[in-house]
Amino acid sequence: MNVTVVVGSQWGDEGKGKITDYLAEGARAVVRYQGGNNAGHTIVIGDRTHKLHLLPSGILRRDVLAVLGNGMVIDPAVLLDELAKLYDDHGELLISERAHVIMPYHQLLDGAEERGRGGAAVGTTGRGIGPCYGDRALRYGVRIGDLREPTVLRERLAAALPRAEALLRLYHQPANLDADALYHQAIAWGEALEPYIGDASLALARLWRDGQPILMEGAQGVHIDLDHGTYPFVTSSHPISGGSTVGAGIPPTAIERVVGVTKAYTTRVGSGPFPAELNDAQGDHLREAGGEYGTTTGRPRRCGWLDLVMLELSHRVCGFTELAVTKLDVLGGLDEVRVVVAYDTPEGRVTHFPASQARLAACEPVFETLPGWPALTREAWLTAAQSGELPTEMHNYLAFISQRLGVPVGLASVGPERAATVELTR
Ligand code: GDP
Ligand code: IMO
Ligand code: MG
Repeated sequence: MNVTVVVGSQWGDEGKGKITDYLAEGARAVVRYQGGNNAGHTIVIGDRTHKLHLLPSGILRRDVLAVLGNGMVIDPAVLLDELAKLYDDHGELLISERAHVIMPYHQLLDGAEERGRGGAAVGTTGRGIGPCYGDRALRYGVRIGDLREPTVLRERLAAALPRAEALLRLYHQPANLDADALYHQAIAWGEALEPYIGDASLALARLWRDGQPILMEGAQGVHIDLDHGTYPFVTSSHPISGGSTVGAGIPPTAIERVVGVTKAYTTRVGSGPFPAELNDAQGDHLREAGGEYGTTTGRPRRCGWLDLVMLELSHRVCGFTELAVTKLDVLGGLDEVRVVVAYDTPEGRVTHFPASQARLAACEPVFETLPGWPALTREAWLTAAQSGELPTEMHNYLAFISQRLGVPVGLASVGPERAATVELTR
Protein backbone atom coordinates (compact mmCIF):
# COMPACT_ATOMS: atom_id res chain seq x y z
CA MET A 1 0.00 0.00 0.00
CA ASN A 2 1.41 3.37 -0.93
CA VAL A 3 -0.80 6.15 0.43
CA THR A 4 -3.31 5.33 3.19
CA VAL A 5 -5.66 7.98 4.57
CA VAL A 6 -7.08 7.66 8.08
CA VAL A 7 -10.32 9.66 8.42
CA GLY A 8 -12.73 10.21 11.29
CA SER A 9 -16.17 9.19 10.02
CA GLN A 10 -18.29 10.91 12.68
CA TRP A 11 -17.88 14.17 14.67
CA GLY A 12 -14.25 13.64 15.70
CA ASP A 13 -12.65 11.73 18.60
CA GLU A 14 -13.26 8.35 16.97
CA GLY A 15 -9.82 7.08 18.01
CA LYS A 16 -7.88 8.29 14.95
CA GLY A 17 -4.70 8.77 17.02
CA LYS A 18 -4.74 5.18 18.23
CA ILE A 19 -5.46 3.75 14.77
CA THR A 20 -2.86 5.98 13.08
CA ASP A 21 -0.23 4.93 15.59
CA TYR A 22 -1.16 1.30 14.96
CA LEU A 23 -0.98 1.65 11.17
CA ALA A 24 2.24 3.71 11.37
CA GLU A 25 4.18 0.50 11.92
CA GLY A 26 6.00 0.11 8.63
CA ALA A 27 5.03 3.55 7.28
CA ARG A 28 7.81 5.87 6.11
CA ALA A 29 5.89 9.13 6.69
CA VAL A 30 2.84 10.16 8.73
CA VAL A 31 1.20 13.39 7.61
CA ARG A 32 -1.35 15.74 9.15
CA TYR A 33 -3.17 17.44 6.25
CA GLN A 34 -5.63 19.82 7.91
CA GLY A 35 -6.75 21.38 11.16
CA GLY A 36 -4.56 22.59 13.97
CA ASN A 37 -4.46 22.24 17.72
CA ASN A 38 -8.23 21.92 17.83
CA ALA A 39 -7.37 18.22 17.46
CA GLY A 40 -6.58 16.00 20.42
CA HIS A 41 -5.25 12.57 19.51
CA THR A 42 -4.53 10.08 22.27
CA ILE A 43 -1.97 7.33 21.97
CA VAL A 44 -1.31 4.79 24.68
CA ILE A 45 2.05 3.06 24.52
CA GLY A 46 2.87 0.80 27.44
CA ASP A 47 2.03 2.70 30.61
CA ARG A 48 2.41 6.12 28.94
CA THR A 49 -0.43 8.18 27.46
CA HIS A 50 0.46 10.82 24.87
CA LYS A 51 -1.98 13.54 23.87
CA LEU A 52 -0.97 15.13 20.57
CA HIS A 53 -2.58 18.28 19.19
CA LEU A 54 -0.38 19.27 16.26
CA LEU A 55 2.22 16.57 15.77
CA PRO A 56 1.14 13.55 13.70
CA SER A 57 0.69 10.33 15.64
CA GLY A 58 3.71 8.81 13.84
CA ILE A 59 6.06 11.20 15.66
CA LEU A 60 6.55 8.63 18.44
CA ARG A 61 8.17 6.17 16.04
CA ARG A 62 11.84 6.99 15.39
CA ASP A 63 11.92 5.64 11.84
CA VAL A 64 8.94 7.68 10.65
CA LEU A 65 9.05 11.14 9.07
CA ALA A 66 6.34 13.28 10.70
CA VAL A 67 4.94 15.90 8.33
CA LEU A 68 2.75 18.93 9.03
CA GLY A 69 1.13 19.59 5.64
CA ASN A 70 0.28 22.85 3.92
CA GLY A 71 -3.41 22.42 4.81
CA MET A 72 -2.70 22.89 8.51
CA VAL A 73 -2.96 25.99 10.67
CA ILE A 74 -0.11 25.98 13.17
CA ASP A 75 0.28 27.80 16.46
CA PRO A 76 4.08 27.88 16.75
CA ALA A 77 4.03 28.29 20.55
CA VAL A 78 1.91 25.14 20.92
CA LEU A 79 4.08 23.22 18.47
CA LEU A 80 7.32 24.14 20.25
CA ASP A 81 5.77 23.18 23.57
CA GLU A 82 4.61 19.83 22.17
CA LEU A 83 8.05 19.13 20.75
CA ALA A 84 9.75 20.08 24.03
CA LYS A 85 7.52 17.63 25.92
CA LEU A 86 8.86 14.78 23.78
CA TYR A 87 12.43 15.51 25.01
CA ASP A 88 13.94 14.82 21.56
CA ASP A 89 12.52 11.31 21.83
CA HIS A 90 10.96 11.45 18.39
CA GLY A 91 11.57 10.87 14.70
CA GLU A 92 12.30 13.43 11.99
CA LEU A 93 9.91 16.37 11.52
CA LEU A 94 9.05 18.39 8.41
CA ILE A 95 6.75 21.43 8.44
CA SER A 96 5.34 22.73 5.16
CA GLU A 97 6.43 26.29 4.43
CA ARG A 98 2.95 26.74 2.97
CA ALA A 99 1.06 25.96 6.20
CA HIS A 100 -0.54 28.96 7.89
CA VAL A 101 0.38 30.48 11.25
CA ILE A 102 -2.21 30.94 13.99
CA MET A 103 -1.42 34.37 15.40
CA PRO A 104 -2.44 35.54 18.90
CA TYR A 105 -5.07 37.81 17.31
CA HIS A 106 -6.72 34.76 15.70
CA GLN A 107 -7.33 33.36 19.15
CA LEU A 108 -8.70 36.69 20.39
CA LEU A 109 -11.02 36.80 17.38
CA ASP A 110 -12.17 33.20 17.90
CA GLY A 111 -13.31 34.09 21.43
CA ALA A 112 -14.82 37.41 20.36
CA GLU A 113 -16.77 35.86 17.48
CA GLU A 114 -18.10 33.06 19.66
CA ARG A 115 -19.29 35.54 22.28
CA GLY A 116 -20.80 37.64 19.47
CA ARG A 117 -22.84 34.66 18.26
CA GLY A 118 -24.49 34.34 21.69
CA GLY A 119 -26.90 31.40 21.77
CA ALA A 120 -25.86 30.39 18.24
CA ALA A 121 -22.20 29.85 19.25
CA VAL A 122 -20.45 26.98 17.43
CA GLY A 123 -18.72 25.81 20.59
CA THR A 124 -15.27 26.09 19.00
CA THR A 125 -12.14 24.96 20.78
CA GLY A 126 -11.09 28.62 21.04
CA ARG A 127 -7.72 27.94 19.42
CA GLY A 128 -8.08 30.52 16.61
CA ILE A 129 -8.75 27.92 13.91
CA GLY A 130 -11.66 29.62 12.10
CA PRO A 131 -10.13 33.14 12.01
CA CYS A 132 -6.80 31.75 10.75
CA TYR A 133 -8.45 29.79 7.91
CA GLY A 134 -10.59 32.88 7.25
CA ASP A 135 -7.48 35.04 6.82
CA ARG A 136 -6.00 32.36 4.56
CA ALA A 137 -9.05 32.47 2.27
CA LEU A 138 -9.11 36.30 2.28
CA ARG A 139 -5.35 36.36 1.62
CA TYR A 140 -4.40 38.05 4.88
CA GLY A 141 -2.61 34.97 6.20
CA VAL A 142 0.96 34.59 7.42
CA ARG A 143 2.59 31.37 6.27
CA ILE A 144 5.18 29.32 8.13
CA GLY A 145 7.75 30.18 5.43
CA ASP A 146 7.14 33.91 6.04
CA LEU A 147 8.50 33.54 9.57
CA ARG A 148 12.02 33.33 8.17
CA GLU A 149 11.72 36.18 5.69
CA PRO A 150 11.81 39.43 7.72
CA THR A 151 10.76 41.82 4.93
CA VAL A 152 7.84 39.64 3.83
CA LEU A 153 6.81 39.08 7.44
CA ARG A 154 6.69 42.84 8.11
CA GLU A 155 4.52 43.29 5.00
CA ARG A 156 2.18 40.45 5.89
CA LEU A 157 1.67 41.75 9.43
CA ALA A 158 1.19 45.31 8.17
CA ALA A 159 -1.62 44.01 5.94
CA ALA A 160 -3.26 41.76 8.54
CA LEU A 161 -3.08 43.75 11.77
CA PRO A 162 -5.31 46.76 10.97
CA ARG A 163 -8.02 44.39 9.81
CA ALA A 164 -7.73 42.20 12.93
CA GLU A 165 -7.90 45.33 15.11
CA ALA A 166 -10.98 46.61 13.28
CA LEU A 167 -12.71 43.26 13.76
CA LEU A 168 -11.85 43.18 17.46
CA ARG A 169 -13.30 46.69 17.84
CA LEU A 170 -16.45 45.46 16.11
CA TYR A 171 -16.79 42.94 18.94
CA HIS A 172 -15.96 45.62 21.56
CA GLN A 173 -12.67 43.95 22.44
CA PRO A 174 -9.44 45.78 23.34
CA ALA A 175 -7.64 46.15 20.01
CA ASN A 176 -4.19 47.61 20.56
CA LEU A 177 -2.02 44.96 18.98
CA ASP A 178 1.69 45.63 19.40
CA ALA A 179 2.98 45.18 15.84
CA ASP A 180 6.62 45.32 16.83
CA ALA A 181 6.33 42.78 19.65
CA LEU A 182 4.40 40.46 17.36
CA TYR A 183 7.02 40.77 14.62
CA HIS A 184 9.85 39.91 17.04
CA GLN A 185 7.85 37.00 18.46
CA ALA A 186 7.23 35.69 14.94
CA ILE A 187 10.92 35.98 14.02
CA ALA A 188 11.83 34.02 17.17
CA TRP A 189 9.31 31.29 16.19
CA GLY A 190 10.85 31.17 12.72
CA GLU A 191 14.34 30.73 14.19
CA ALA A 192 13.19 27.95 16.51
CA LEU A 193 11.32 26.11 13.73
CA GLU A 194 13.92 26.72 11.01
CA PRO A 195 15.43 23.19 11.11
CA TYR A 196 12.05 21.66 10.35
CA ILE A 197 10.63 23.98 7.65
CA GLY A 198 10.67 22.78 4.04
CA ASP A 199 8.75 21.72 0.95
CA ALA A 200 6.54 18.94 2.33
CA SER A 201 4.81 18.17 -0.98
CA LEU A 202 8.17 17.65 -2.68
CA ALA A 203 9.44 15.38 0.09
CA LEU A 204 6.25 13.30 -0.10
CA ALA A 205 6.44 13.11 -3.90
CA ARG A 206 9.95 11.65 -3.62
CA LEU A 207 8.85 9.06 -1.06
CA TRP A 208 5.82 8.17 -3.18
CA ARG A 209 7.97 7.78 -6.31
CA ASP A 210 10.23 5.43 -4.34
CA GLY A 211 7.23 3.33 -3.33
CA GLN A 212 7.53 4.21 0.37
CA PRO A 213 4.33 3.76 2.42
CA ILE A 214 2.78 7.08 3.47
CA LEU A 215 0.05 7.48 6.06
CA MET A 216 -2.26 10.53 6.13
CA GLU A 217 -3.76 11.29 9.53
CA GLY A 218 -7.05 13.17 9.38
CA ALA A 219 -8.09 15.32 12.30
CA GLN A 220 -11.71 16.05 13.26
CA GLY A 221 -14.30 14.07 11.27
CA VAL A 222 -16.50 14.04 8.16
CA HIS A 223 -19.50 15.57 9.96
CA ILE A 224 -17.54 18.67 10.98
CA ASP A 225 -16.04 19.06 7.49
CA LEU A 226 -16.57 22.65 6.29
CA ASP A 227 -18.67 21.50 3.30
CA HIS A 228 -19.97 18.06 4.20
CA GLY A 229 -20.58 18.57 7.92
CA THR A 230 -23.51 20.09 9.79
CA TYR A 231 -22.81 23.68 8.66
CA PRO A 232 -22.40 26.11 10.40
CA PHE A 233 -21.56 23.81 13.34
CA VAL A 234 -18.37 22.62 11.68
CA THR A 235 -14.64 23.27 11.69
CA SER A 236 -13.01 25.38 8.98
CA SER A 237 -11.06 22.69 7.11
CA HIS A 238 -11.64 19.49 5.14
CA PRO A 239 -11.08 16.31 7.16
CA ILE A 240 -12.54 14.12 4.36
CA SER A 241 -10.15 11.83 2.47
CA GLY A 242 -10.00 14.22 -0.51
CA GLY A 243 -8.77 16.93 1.86
CA SER A 244 -5.49 15.06 2.03
CA THR A 245 -4.60 15.81 -1.57
CA VAL A 246 -5.19 19.54 -1.08
CA GLY A 247 -3.64 19.64 2.38
CA ALA A 248 -0.54 17.56 1.70
CA GLY A 249 0.05 18.26 -1.97
CA ILE A 250 -0.27 14.70 -3.24
CA PRO A 251 -2.25 13.64 -6.32
CA PRO A 252 -5.64 11.94 -5.69
CA THR A 253 -4.44 8.98 -7.76
CA ALA A 254 -1.82 8.25 -5.07
CA ILE A 255 -4.47 7.23 -2.54
CA GLU A 256 -4.96 3.49 -2.40
CA ARG A 257 -6.52 2.87 0.98
CA VAL A 258 -8.99 4.92 3.03
CA VAL A 259 -9.62 3.79 6.60
CA GLY A 260 -12.79 5.22 8.15
CA VAL A 261 -12.29 5.31 11.90
CA THR A 262 -15.68 4.77 13.51
CA LYS A 263 -16.51 4.74 17.19
CA ALA A 264 -18.89 1.88 18.06
CA TYR A 265 -21.35 4.57 19.21
CA THR A 266 -21.52 8.31 18.45
CA THR A 267 -20.15 11.36 20.27
CA ARG A 268 -20.04 15.07 19.55
CA VAL A 269 -18.32 18.00 21.32
CA GLY A 270 -19.68 21.49 20.77
CA SER A 271 -23.04 22.64 19.41
CA GLY A 272 -25.05 21.45 16.43
CA PRO A 273 -27.54 18.80 15.34
CA PHE A 274 -27.16 15.25 16.67
CA PRO A 275 -30.20 13.16 15.70
CA ALA A 276 -29.07 10.06 17.64
CA GLU A 277 -28.20 11.96 20.84
CA LEU A 278 -29.24 10.26 24.11
CA ASN A 279 -30.18 12.83 26.74
CA ASP A 280 -30.83 10.14 29.32
CA ALA A 281 -29.20 7.60 31.63
CA GLN A 282 -28.02 5.55 28.64
CA GLY A 283 -26.17 8.60 27.25
CA ASP A 284 -24.64 9.23 30.69
CA HIS A 285 -23.56 5.59 30.86
CA LEU A 286 -21.77 5.82 27.49
CA ARG A 287 -20.01 9.04 28.59
CA GLU A 288 -18.74 7.51 31.82
CA ALA A 289 -17.93 4.05 30.44
CA GLY A 290 -16.12 5.56 27.43
CA GLY A 291 -14.40 8.39 29.33
CA GLU A 292 -16.03 10.78 26.87
CA TYR A 293 -14.48 14.07 27.89
CA GLY A 294 -12.65 16.20 25.31
CA THR A 295 -8.91 15.60 24.86
CA THR A 296 -8.35 19.27 23.98
CA THR A 297 -10.88 21.21 26.06
CA GLY A 298 -12.03 18.66 28.67
CA ARG A 299 -15.67 19.32 27.76
CA PRO A 300 -18.14 16.44 28.29
CA ARG A 301 -18.95 14.82 24.95
CA ARG A 302 -22.57 14.37 23.90
CA CYS A 303 -23.30 10.66 23.36
CA GLY A 304 -25.68 8.49 21.33
CA TRP A 305 -25.97 5.15 19.56
CA LEU A 306 -24.15 4.39 16.32
CA ASP A 307 -25.78 6.18 13.38
CA LEU A 308 -25.61 4.48 9.98
CA VAL A 309 -27.37 7.40 8.26
CA MET A 310 -24.40 9.61 9.14
CA LEU A 311 -21.96 6.92 8.08
CA GLU A 312 -23.60 6.48 4.67
CA LEU A 313 -22.69 10.11 3.91
CA SER A 314 -19.17 9.61 5.30
CA HIS A 315 -18.56 6.59 3.06
CA ARG A 316 -20.12 8.36 0.07
CA VAL A 317 -17.72 11.32 0.26
CA CYS A 318 -14.61 9.49 1.49
CA GLY A 319 -14.75 6.15 -0.34
CA PHE A 320 -13.70 4.00 2.61
CA THR A 321 -11.89 0.84 1.61
CA GLU A 322 -12.37 -0.41 5.17
CA LEU A 323 -13.58 0.67 8.60
CA ALA A 324 -11.66 0.60 11.88
CA VAL A 325 -14.31 0.27 14.58
CA THR A 326 -13.11 1.49 18.00
CA LYS A 327 -14.29 1.42 21.60
CA LEU A 328 -16.27 -1.81 21.14
CA ASP A 329 -15.27 -2.73 24.71
CA VAL A 330 -17.22 0.28 26.00
CA LEU A 331 -20.51 -1.26 24.82
CA GLY A 332 -19.73 -4.46 26.77
CA GLY A 333 -22.22 -5.42 29.47
CA LEU A 334 -25.33 -4.07 27.73
CA ASP A 335 -28.17 -6.54 27.10
CA GLU A 336 -28.77 -4.98 23.71
CA VAL A 337 -27.16 -2.37 21.50
CA ARG A 338 -29.08 -0.11 19.16
CA VAL A 339 -28.15 1.27 15.76
CA VAL A 340 -29.82 4.14 13.92
CA VAL A 341 -30.76 2.94 10.41
CA ALA A 342 -33.07 5.76 9.21
CA TYR A 343 -34.75 8.98 10.33
CA ASP A 344 -38.45 9.70 10.43
CA THR A 345 -39.21 13.23 9.28
CA PRO A 346 -42.50 15.11 8.70
CA GLU A 347 -41.96 14.37 4.99
CA GLY A 348 -41.48 10.65 5.56
CA ARG A 349 -38.64 8.21 6.31
CA VAL A 350 -35.14 9.13 5.04
CA THR A 351 -31.90 7.14 4.88
CA HIS A 352 -29.70 9.99 3.64
CA PHE A 353 -28.34 12.61 6.04
CA PRO A 354 -30.13 15.93 5.32
CA ALA A 355 -28.13 19.13 4.77
CA SER A 356 -30.89 21.42 6.03
CA GLN A 357 -30.68 22.49 9.68
CA ALA A 358 -34.47 22.67 9.93
CA ARG A 359 -34.92 19.15 8.51
CA LEU A 360 -32.21 17.75 10.79
CA ALA A 361 -33.92 19.27 13.83
CA ALA A 362 -37.12 17.38 12.91
CA CYS A 363 -35.41 13.99 12.45
CA GLU A 364 -36.46 11.16 14.76
CA PRO A 365 -34.08 8.19 14.69
CA VAL A 366 -35.33 4.75 13.66
CA PHE A 367 -33.45 1.92 15.39
CA GLU A 368 -32.56 -1.70 14.89
CA THR A 369 -31.69 -3.57 18.06
CA LEU A 370 -29.00 -6.25 18.29
CA PRO A 371 -27.90 -8.50 21.16
CA GLY A 372 -25.13 -7.08 23.39
CA TRP A 373 -21.93 -8.79 24.54
CA PRO A 374 -20.31 -9.27 27.94
CA ALA A 375 -18.27 -6.67 29.83
CA LEU A 376 -14.66 -7.72 30.28
CA THR A 377 -11.82 -6.20 32.27
CA ARG A 378 -9.15 -4.24 30.37
CA GLU A 379 -6.77 -7.17 30.83
CA ALA A 380 -9.34 -9.62 29.50
CA TRP A 381 -10.00 -7.46 26.43
CA LEU A 382 -6.24 -7.40 25.75
CA THR A 383 -6.09 -11.17 25.99
CA ALA A 384 -9.14 -11.51 23.74
CA ALA A 385 -7.56 -9.16 21.18
CA GLN A 386 -4.31 -11.06 21.19
CA SER A 387 -6.01 -14.40 20.65
CA GLY A 388 -8.37 -12.80 18.11
CA GLU A 389 -11.32 -14.28 19.97
CA LEU A 390 -13.93 -11.56 20.18
CA PRO A 391 -17.48 -12.29 21.41
CA THR A 392 -19.82 -13.69 18.75
CA GLU A 393 -22.35 -10.90 19.35
CA MET A 394 -19.60 -8.34 18.65
CA HIS A 395 -18.79 -10.08 15.38
CA ASN A 396 -22.49 -9.96 14.52
CA TYR A 397 -22.62 -6.23 15.32
CA LEU A 398 -19.64 -5.59 13.03
CA ALA A 399 -21.13 -7.77 10.28
CA PHE A 400 -24.39 -5.78 10.52
CA ILE A 401 -22.53 -2.46 10.09
CA SER A 402 -20.38 -3.79 7.30
CA GLN A 403 -23.30 -5.27 5.38
CA ARG A 404 -25.49 -2.15 5.73
CA LEU A 405 -22.74 0.22 4.60
CA GLY A 406 -21.12 -2.05 2.05
CA VAL A 407 -17.65 -1.58 3.58
CA PRO A 408 -15.55 -4.30 5.22
CA VAL A 409 -14.44 -3.84 8.82
CA GLY A 410 -10.66 -4.27 8.73
CA LEU A 411 -9.82 -3.40 12.34
CA ALA A 412 -11.67 -3.82 15.62
CA SER A 413 -10.42 -1.99 18.70
CA VAL A 414 -11.30 -3.13 22.22
CA GLY A 415 -9.02 -0.89 24.28
CA PRO A 416 -6.80 2.19 24.01
CA GLU A 417 -3.56 0.18 23.79
CA ARG A 418 -1.81 -0.80 20.55
CA ALA A 419 -2.22 -4.46 21.42
CA ALA A 420 -5.99 -4.13 21.91
CA THR A 421 -6.45 -4.12 18.14
CA VAL A 422 -7.68 -7.03 16.04
CA GLU A 423 -7.15 -7.34 12.30
CA LEU A 424 -10.22 -9.01 10.86
CA THR A 425 -9.92 -11.26 7.88
CA ARG A 426 -12.09 -10.17 5.00
P1 GDP B 1 -9.09 11.05 18.16
O1 GDP B 1 -9.25 12.52 18.30
O2 GDP B 1 -9.93 10.48 17.06
O3 GDP B 1 -7.66 10.61 18.04
O4 GDP B 1 -9.66 10.42 19.51
P2 GDP B 1 -9.37 10.94 21.02
O5 GDP B 1 -7.99 10.58 21.39
O6 GDP B 1 -9.79 12.36 21.18
O7 GDP B 1 -10.45 10.10 21.81
C1 GDP B 1 -10.45 8.71 21.78
C2 GDP B 1 -10.26 8.17 23.21
O8 GDP B 1 -10.61 6.81 23.24
C3 GDP B 1 -8.82 8.24 23.68
O9 GDP B 1 -8.84 8.45 25.07
C4 GDP B 1 -8.27 6.86 23.36
O10 GDP B 1 -7.19 6.46 24.20
C5 GDP B 1 -9.48 6.01 23.60
N1 GDP B 1 -9.60 4.80 22.79
C6 GDP B 1 -9.24 4.59 21.49
N2 GDP B 1 -9.63 3.36 21.09
C7 GDP B 1 -10.22 2.79 22.15
C8 GDP B 1 -10.85 1.52 22.36
O11 GDP B 1 -10.97 0.68 21.47
N3 GDP B 1 -11.37 1.29 23.60
C9 GDP B 1 -11.30 2.20 24.60
N4 GDP B 1 -11.85 1.89 25.77
N5 GDP B 1 -10.71 3.40 24.44
C10 GDP B 1 -10.19 3.69 23.23
P1 IMO C 1 -10.10 15.50 16.84
O1 IMO C 1 -9.04 15.56 15.77
C1 IMO C 1 -14.07 16.78 18.12
C2 IMO C 1 -15.32 20.83 16.98
C3 IMO C 1 -15.47 21.85 18.08
C4 IMO C 1 -16.57 22.71 17.49
C5 IMO C 1 -16.25 22.72 16.01
C6 IMO C 1 -15.47 23.96 15.53
O2 IMO C 1 -9.56 15.31 18.20
O3 IMO C 1 -11.16 14.51 16.47
P2 IMO C 1 -12.95 24.72 15.86
O4 IMO C 1 -12.15 25.02 17.09
O5 IMO C 1 -12.37 23.66 14.99
O6 IMO C 1 -13.27 25.97 15.07
O7 IMO C 1 -14.36 24.18 16.41
O8 IMO C 1 -15.47 21.54 15.76
N1 IMO C 1 -13.99 20.15 16.92
C7 IMO C 1 -13.78 18.90 17.31
N2 IMO C 1 -14.61 17.99 17.87
N3 IMO C 1 -12.79 16.43 17.83
C8 IMO C 1 -11.96 17.31 17.25
O9 IMO C 1 -10.71 16.98 16.83
C9 IMO C 1 -12.43 18.63 16.99
N4 IMO C 1 -11.88 19.74 16.45
C10 IMO C 1 -12.86 20.66 16.40
O10 IMO C 1 -15.85 21.24 19.29
O11 IMO C 1 -17.81 22.07 17.65
MG1 MG D 1 -9.75 13.96 19.73
